[in-house]
Amino acid sequence: MKRHSMVLLAILAGSAAYVSLNAAPREQQDAKQVYLDKCSLCHGEDGAGKTAKGKKLNMKDIRSADVQKLTPAEWTTIILKGKGTIMDSYEKELGADMAKKLADYMRDLSKK
Ligand code: HEC
Repeated sequence: MKRHSMVLLAILAGSAAYVSLNAAPREQQDAKQVYLDKCSLCHGEDGAGKTAKGKKLNMKDIRSADVQKLTPAEWTTIILKGKGTIMDSYEKELGADMAKKLADYMRDLSKK
């Protein structure tokens, strides 16, 4: 019995190390997940805004030069504070850290 729990502990310790080694890609993954969950309905998975909802709202393609010229800070601020009447403020829901990661994720969509 004792030996058994030692083995279990070793396995747990091993997986904790695994998780921390993979922290960076996991954060990227999270931003992607949040984007797909909360943003892609209007902005589209690829950022083009050509979803049923996006077309009605006449969204800009976030990969266009017009949007890509925003600085990372401006981009993050829009996510935190919202823009216009339809784009909501996500400050309470997501917080500054996630807004920054989302900004990075969205900016990178133009490179895919
Ligand atoms: C209900 C639809 C909707 C959802 C959901 C939505 N947006 Fe938007 N978003 C808009 C609209 C509409 C604009 C354009 C606002 C304007 O220019 O007046 C916009 C603009 C933006 C902009 C500025 C660039 C631009 O196209 O003008 C960013 C950045 C942005 N949204 C990020 C996000 C992120 C991140 C999420 C998810 C957390 C999100 N949006 C969710 C509708 C939406």
